[in-house]
Amino acid sequence: MISKNTIDLIFETVKIEDIVSDYVSLRKRGSNLIGLCPFHGEKTPSFVVSPAKDIYKCFGCGEAGNAVNFVMNHDQLSYPEALRQIAQKYNIEIEETVSSAEENEERAKQDVMHQISQLAMEHFQNNLLNTDLGKSIGASYFKSRGFSQHIIDKFGLGFSLNSGEFSKLATQSGYNKEQLDNSGLTKNGRDFFRNRVMFTIHNLSGKPIAFAGRILDKNAKAPKYINSPETEIYNKSKTLYGISLARRAIHKNDSCILVEGYTDVISMHIAGFENVVASSGTSLTEGQIKVIKRFTNNITLLYDGDKAGIKAAIRGMDMILEQDMNVKIVLLPDNADPDSFVQQHGVDKMAEQLNEKAKDIVLFKTDLLLEESKNDPIKKAEVTREILSSIAKVPDTIKRSFYIKSCSEKMDINEETLVYEINKIIGKNYKEKQKKENRASYQSNNEVKEAVSQSSPPPKANTQSTPNSSIQAIQEKDIASLLILFGNEPTLEDENTTISEYVLSDLEDIIEEMEHPIYGEVIKDYYQNALNDNTINSKYFSTHPNDSIRKFAIDILSENYEFSPNWSKRFGIELTTQKMPELNYNKVMEKSLLHFKLAKIIEMMIKIDGELQTCEPSQWEEKIVIKMKLNTMKLEIAKKLGTVIR
Ligand code: UTP
Ligand code: MN
Repeated sequence: MISKNTIDLIFETVKIEDIVSDYVSLRKRGSNLIGLCPFHGEKTPSFVVSPAKDIYKCFGCGEAGNAVNFVMNHDQLSYPEALRQIAQKYNIEIEETVSSAEENEERAKQDVMHQISQLAMEHFQNNLLNTDLGKSIGASYFKSRGFSQHIIDKFGLGFSLNSGEFSKLATQSGYNKEQLDNSGLTKNGRDFFRNRVMFTIHNLSGKPIAFAGRILDKNAKAPKYINSPETEIYNKSKTLYGISLARRAIHKNDSCILVEGYTDVISMHIAGFENVVASSGTSLTEGQIKVIKRFTNNITLLYDGDKAGIKAAIRGMDMILEQDMNVKIVLLPDNADPDSFVQQHGVDKMAEQLNEKAKDIVLFKTDLLLEESKNDPIKKAEVTREILSSIAKVPDTIKRSFYIKSCSEKMDINEETLVYEINKIIGKNYKEKQKKENRASYQSNNEVKEAVSQSSPPPKANTQSTPNSSIQAIQEKDIASLLILFGNEPTLEDENTTISEYVLSDLEDIIEEMEHPIYGEVIKDYYQNALNDNTINSKYFSTHPNDSIRKFAIDILSENYEFSPNWSKRFGIELTTQKMPELNYNKVMEKSLLHFKLAKIIEMMIKIDGELQTCEPSQWEEKIVIKMKLNTMKLEIAKKLGTVIR
């Protein structure tokens, strides 16, 4: 691990403009620098670098961060990888934290696994090129599938011989039986892969970590593919085939195509669709989706149009929806898989499938199930529930209301009823989740605090979040922003007191009541530092290790944050108007009025919710209609507030 000292030194040394200008040509504009955003295509520059604040922000696509984030995003590196790259540029020597004997042993074991995998890959490649069997069977097979030598090298394709060649070679190279068995490349000392064409599975940074072997004999009883078992370096549920070659393209296109087979990935890659991965050796897992989510929120499932393809798609969809990702599905015609389709029909037809035939997965499932349950009311009720439970997995309220609307039309059930049913499901899911969390936190007292501070109440369909906490969140946001922007500035009344001292002493008694996972944390973090006499400034937050806090800080640093009126009066933000030339009091007044109305409406909605729990079913309809009306008013106000607040 890189030591804290080194990280601090890197942040002290690095100049954001220095890093960015390696990639983007920048011009001066005022105290800032401006250029064409490297993260999205644009013709007029909206990418701003602020040397004073050590941050960048694109006003076109919203990408923002500090120097390390820039390198991470641009070169698709992990946090430590980016730190190392920057350290190299500035000739900063990296000090590693001393690790325990256990950690060292673990790392040494992993190193051996990596070496063995590398050796195996080279061995399989060599077999393909330089042995009679490899050439006559393996190489000609890949050739028949349209894979050039360049592609064979790029993907690490190879051939395994029948005669136990690998274990011989590896033993000669000094690895013992236990190590080889642990690597999955041998089983009881005998070669695991024999007489198969080999596919190398790489990790995110492109190192070989596992293999898949495909049998060529059509009549063989053995399975078509065998895959390495899990090892110290191969965690199946977090590995995606093709990810190291696809990650840049996924980020750049802001979308990921998910296919089922190894050869699908390769053929798509050859056809120029480089943002393609497959789940390898397992059905899709949550961990794999999280890996994709690091690069994009948009997934297209590209599957065979047969029953198995549809089943696989439906199986994976709830999991993806839960991660707040947008999922589309393309089912290829005539039972073609992506490999056979693109080879047969070409690039343009594949692009047409992806662009024009892609269907939103929730709507796809709705159509599919409704078709299956046609003319069968009981089955229809069943599938309605099934669809609603998928929609309930979508965390984003706006997306959810869109789905509710479309499904209401498709299913011919009114929206109010659907909203009501979905809220019930969400409530149930939430309770279950809490139960689980409670059980988990019971085990460790420390975790209790954590669970409470992290589990925000469930956002219900068509309402944004529970009222009290949303109002509190606005206030917490104001306080947090105030601290980040002006914490070290003197107050109006007394120039020997800083704003942060003033605010924090005022809040001392209720500091633990701060509940928002970002704003509340900022306040607590500030307070903790103040207690320890650490003076911290905005840079502390714009380089904060917590992603969400860092994003928030950078956002308010790069925009002119507007406070709710009470706060500006109370702390004399007027003093600092030269920092916020656009502070507009009319807007502030309007905003406070809208907030007041919003609070009232939310109060009424809570009351109706309470009544709904206790009243007769015959009254539901009437009350739900009132609630919907209130909700419409609420959304209108929220929208206005959005334009006022920005
Ligand atoms: P497919 O049978 O569709 O194979 O399995 P494929 O990738 O299209 O291969 P070709 O085109 O016939 O050569 C899809 C995926 O399911 C896994 C593999 O990951 C495969 O790529 N699979 C399949 C196995 O793990 N074991 C098997 O026996 C079969
Ligand atoms: Mn295939």
